[in-house]
Amino acid sequence: MITLGIEGTAHTLGVGVTDSDGSVLSNVIDMFRPVSGGLHPREAANHHADVAAGVILKSIEEAGLSLHDVDLVSFSMGPGLGPCLRVAATAARSLAVGLGVPIVGVNHCIAHIEIGNATTGCADPVLLYASGGNTQVVAYSDGRYRIFGETQDIGVGNMLDKIGRELGLGFYAGPEIERLALEGDELLDLPYSVKGMDVAFSGIMTAALTLRKKGRRLEDIAFSVQETVFAMLTEVTERAMAHIGKDEVLLGGGVAQNARLRDMVGRMAKDRGAEMFVPDRRLCMDNGAMIAWLGSLMHGSGVRMELGDTKVRQRFRTDEVQVTWR
Ligand code: ATP
Ligand code: FE2
Repeated sequence: MITLGIEGTAHTLGVGVTDSDGSVLSNVIDMFRPVSGGLHPREAANHHADVAAGVILKSIEEAGLSLHDVDLVSFSMGPGLGPCLRVAATAARSLAVGLGVPIVGVNHCIAHIEIGNATTGCADPVLLYASGGNTQVVAYSDGRYRIFGETQDIGVGNMLDKIGRELGLGFYAGPEIERLALEGDELLDLPYSVKGMDVAFSGIMTAALTLRKKGRRLEDIAFSVQETVFAMLTEVTERAMAHIGKDEVLLGGGVAQNARLRDMVGRMAKDRGAEMFVPDRRLCMDNGAMIAWLGSLMHGSGVRMELGDTKVRQRFRTDEVQVTWR
């Protein structure tokens, strides 16, 4: 069973191909990078529309297949930016109809979990999903992936990107903040906002920018932001693990590429006698392979969708999905 998955929730148009056993045959990623400023949904959607056909063909070619080998098409149904989601959905529908194969729309957040399960060897983890638009602590319980904690305002990656933009570090500032933080040594005071199991980042962002106006070194600001927000994420992840009694933690999302975050979560896991798993870099970021794989799991468990069921859902929540494949 060959599944082709199309990801398009935000800045990335990705197309991946997977086989029924979870092996990734190809995973082509084309990311929209705004020339200046932040991500504008319509510009990103235009980018996706421009590149979609080419990325689909490239992914098929890298998998060493032809389009007629595809047995199932899946796509990211949400959550995400409306214009971007609609491009991915339209591409998926046209392809499925053209090839005469079934189509399945999937939840993007759950796709991050399942590709982690398939490729890292963990079985029943607590997922810390830390990306641009999303920050959630999720685990499986009683038929659903439940959200144990999440951001009350913006995603952790968006916060890093906004700080980076204001401080002139360019778009997609996570990696640059990580690099600067290595040179920082003074822990500056930032609000530590854990509220119950939830976290919030906008106050930290404002405080970090104020520190810069007061003349603090960029390196110390980067260091302090990382130490503070990653400690918050580690704390809520640990509490979720303790609460639900799981001894595996899986990282997902673009921010999971950060070595300091891995270090903190890894140490927490070790102290609890638990194990941390991190998918390959290209499977951590937004990608089509994870969408293909979740589509394959869902279809394999009997999920069927008519074209009329494939409307995109900008606010599609992780815990709305009945997990039929476990
Ligand atoms: P979503 O998954 O919510 O749709 P997204 O598409 O923005 O959001 P990803 O592609 O998973 O998310 O990740 C992009 C984010 O990861 C950006 O905010 C980027 O700054 C951040 N990021 C990438 N590398 C690092 C790093 N080394 N350290 C911290 N953050 C990073
Ligand atoms: Fe994502």
